[in-house]
Amino acid sequence: MRTLGIETSCDETSVALLEMKGGVSAVRGQFTASQVLDHAEYGGVVPEVAARLHVQALPAIMRRLGLGSKDVDGIAITRGPGLITSLRVGVDFARGLAWAWKKPIVGVNHIEGHIAANFIGSDVRRQMSDVFPAVVLVVSGGHTEIIFMKNFGRYERLGSTLDDAAGEAFDKVAKMLDLGYPGGPAVSERAEKGDPERFILPRPMLSAPNFDFSFSGLKTAVLYTIQRKEKWNARDIDDLCASFQKASVDVLVAKTVRAAHAKKARTVFLAGGVAANKMLRERLAAECQMSDVRCRLPDLQYCTDNAAMIAMAGSFRLARPLSSRAKSRDDWKMLAPDPNWEL
Ligand code: KG4
Ligand code: ZN
Repeated sequence: MRTLGIETSCDETSVALLEMKGGVSAVRGQFTASQVLDHAEYGGVVPEVAARLHVQALPAIMRRLGLGSKDVDGIAITRGPGLITSLRVGVDFARGLAWAWKKPIVGVNHIEGHIAANFIGSDVRRQMSDVFPAVVLVVSGGHTEIIFMKNFGRYERLGSTLDDAAGEAFDKVAKMLDLGYPGGPAVSERAEKGDPERFILPRPMLSAPNFDFSFSGLKTAVLYTIQRKEKWNARDIDDLCASFQKASVDVLVAKTVRAAHAKKARTVFLAGGVAANKMLRERLAAECQMSDVRCRLPDLQYCTDNAAMIAMAGSFRLARPLSSRAKSRDDWKMLAPDPNWEL
């Protein structure tokens, strides 16, 4: 089965063709038009600008992918969460294509897409039979959640952030330090060179008896640290980035591993843009190994927003009979596509 994935939930326009053959998934082509430079001067995504750029980019990258109706068995489109004006562009485009090509279409939850990135390029049939139950740490620009996953499409949210998302905290710290947008990669690059023990920062909610997070206190602590010191040289900035990164990673990793124990999970998955963070990947893998839990990390190229992950999640959903797509109302509410899409 060949699934065309389309992603326009925020500031990346992406299309990809994913093929499932003998239970193995493979990306046959992907084109992504990033709007990062267009939004950089505003220090964040401008929804109206984003929507207009999606309109321009979609036909262009589809042409580069070079598909006709005979190359595709189904279409998967991100239906949310995301910026409504951006989502609208992709959804309308995908619906038009599905109508013209007479193909089935499925709306994919963006977070489920990030989770599905863990299955790209692997023997999915084998994975499915031995990775569950799993605990997923979802860390993106808009979400920070720990999810218990009984199977693909069966989710229970164990905890989430009470305020800022992890990626948002990275972005805001980058802004305070004038490191540009998007901030995550910039902060982690500076952190590589810094001393993570130089500045004392809090580990919010580390010992709270739940799986929730809070990053706004940590962000404010960084702000106060900046205000307390008059002159900042490059070395100081490296050290502050390293200290902030370590404080964030400490909490994310500890709570995820604790959740894996509590739920007797066989596997821990990492998902979302912040999954590209080197320290988070290394620490999570190491702590899982010490706890005898398998750790699965998405390929670096499929961590931040991309269409291959939407095609992957979509192909799971397109392959299943309608009746098995949602087992409970909670599943629908949280991650499953709007049922109306599939009728
Ligand atoms: O998943 P994503 O592409 O978009 C959302 O769905 O939100 O995630 C983007 C977020 C941004 O906040 C970005 O700063 C962060 O992921 N990010 C990183 C890294 N690469 C991207 N954060 C920390 N370290 C990184 N290497
Ligand atoms: Zn995302």
